[in-house]
This record gives sequence, C-alpha cells and structure tokens, in this order.
Amino acid sequence: MQSNQALSGKTAFITGGSGSIGSASAKLLATDGAAVLLMGRTIGTLEKAQKDILESVPDAQVQLHVGDAGSVEDVQAGLDKAHAMRGRLDIIVPTVGGGPFRPLLMLDVETVRSTLDFTITTAFIAIRYGAPMMDGGSIVCISSNVGKMPFAYLSAYHAAKSGLEGLVRAAAEELGCAGIRVNAVRPGLTRTEASNFMYTEETYLNRYLEQTPLGKCGGEPEDVAKAVRYLAGPESSWVTGQSFAVDGGHELRRNPDMTDLVTQMFGREAMDAVRRGKSPS
Ligand SMILES: NC(=O)c1ccc[n+]([C@@H]2O[C@H](COP(=O)([O-])OP(=O)(O)OC[C@H]3O[C@@H](n4cnc5c(N)ncnc54)[C@H](OP(=O)(O)O)[C@@H]3O)[C@@H](O)[C@H]2O)c1
Repeated sequence: MQSNQALSGKTAFITGGSGSIGSASAKLLATDGAAVLLMGRTIGTLEKAQKDILESVPDAQVQLHVGDAGSVEDVQAGLDKAHAMRGRLDIIVPTVGGGPFRPLLMLDVETVRSTLDFTITTAFIAIRYGAPMMDGGSIVCISSNVGKMPFAYLSAYHAAKSGLEGLVRAAAEELGCAGIRVNAVRPGLTRTEASNFMYTEETYLNRYLEQTPLGKCGGEPEDVAKAVRYLAGPESSWVTGQSFAVDGGHELRRNPDMTDLVTQMFGREAMDAVRRGKSPS
C-alpha cells in the first residue's frame, strides 16, 4: 500500500481496536505513518488485527493493550503505553459502544444505564484521561446515524449516541484552546461483527436499500475509517465539534421499520401490549 506519511511521527490510541471499524481505522492511520496502540478485552482478536495491519503496512508500529474501555485504570495504562511508543500522543479514537434492539416498554433501567455507560462513559474516559497527555491533536469518536435519526426499538442506543455527540461538542468547546480537536464519525449500517445479523435476511437489507440514496446495503468499515483518518489528520485542521455522516445518504431518508424482526424476537403477545402502550406481563 502506498503511504503519504502525513501522520509520520504521530501516535494514535484506539479503543475497540480489534473491532471492524477500530482496526480499519488503525490500519489507515498506520498507513500514513502513525504508530498505533490497539486496546480491547481479548488478546486473540487484538493479535489478529495487529497481524492484518502488518500484512498491509509491514513497517507499521502496532502495539496491543488488553483492557476494558470502561475502566479508568485500564485506559490510563493503555494511554501510557501509547505515549511511550514515540514519547507523544496525538490521536485518540474511542470506538467502543452499542445497545440492544428492544422496545422501550420492555427495557429495564439497568440495561439503559449500561448502554449509556458502554457508549458515552467509555468515550469520556478516553477523552478525560487522554487529553492531558496530548500537546494538541485530534480525538475522533464513533457515533451512529441512530444518534441523529430515531430508530424504533433502539431507544437506549439512540439516547447513548445522541449523548455521545453532546460530549463531542462539549469537549471540542473546552479543549479547543489546548489545540485539541474533537469530532465524531456517524456511520450508517456498516458490515461488521456487530451488524452481521442484519445481513442474514435479504428482506432487511432491501429495507436499507430503499432508504439509501447511493443504492447499496450498508458501508464497509474502510468507508468509516477514511472519515476517521480525515478527522484525525492535518487535512481537517479547521474542523472541530462536528459529527460527520458516512452512510450512503441514509440520513436523507429514515430508518427502516423492523417491527417484524422485533416481533420474532419477543413474541406477538408482548408486541401487541407494547403497541398499546402497555408493558408486557
Ligand atoms: N456496525 C455498524 O453497523 C455500526 C453503525 C453505526 C455505528 N457503529 C458504531 O461503531 C463502533 C464500532 O462498532 P463495530 O461494528 O466495529 O464493532 P465490533 O466489530 O463488534 O468491534 C467492537 C470492538 O470493541 C471491543 N470492545 C467491546 N467492549 C469493549 C470494552 N468494554 N473495552 C474495550 N474494548 C471493547 C471488542 O473487542 P473485545 O470484545 O475483545 O473487547 C471489539 O474489538 C460502535 O461504537 C458502534 O456503535 C457501528
């Protein structure tokens, strides 16, 4: 792969670095010269991501850190390791997040709290403890178009990604004076481990196709990675506090109706209750 080395000498810290979007982003950052530290909870998948990056970019500097993005101690240890790679930290990409497909009237408080925690607190920890180690630079969070457009039965995830975008704007405002830019990429459906179930049925994919002006069912992790790379690098030096949709134009339309899928998951009786505004018994 040809490298223009625009990120030569820089160091990047990526949580969820073994995931589809995290590892694709790490690969593009490494391609352009950044040393990358991938953090995740499983050494096997981290090593697989490292191997994949080194196959494409043989001279890349790639280190791994096993830890939980929800733990301040684990993240701080990962940040320290990243900083030690070149004596500096320039780029942080917190990618950890997610939430369940479940009607609002079937959600319990603990699930909502853990979804907010998983999506917002993990990014907050990376920003809060990473920013003081940077001397200027760029933080790029991974939101979702669900953070902007409501998606029935994904209310906890919608709230979490909307909150994450609020955190991005607030952090951009407060860290701008330190020369740290904070932005987000807002992917639409993207083919990854986490979204695999969406690709199992043609009917679901067709519903996405109807809602996507560019006429393809979902993007690839590399599509998201290119936006991460832009927001991480000098090309976006006058951009902060933004969330950048990468979704084939999906946000121009709406999210698909997945009532039939959710009915399969929870049963007709429960869904009849939910649709009457009642909690299922
Ligand atoms: N895929 C889509 O269609 C889509 C669309 C819009 C937005 N997004 C967003 O994109 C982001 C990445 O999604 P993805 O599809 O690339 O996910 P993915 O392929 O499932 O990867 C998630 C990664 O995060 C790691 N991880 C999970 N929990 C962690 C924790 N507590 N601490 C550290 N690492 C953790 C996982 O590894 P371990 O389990 O080994 O830790 C894995 O490497 C998410 O925020 C998601 O909401 C995805």
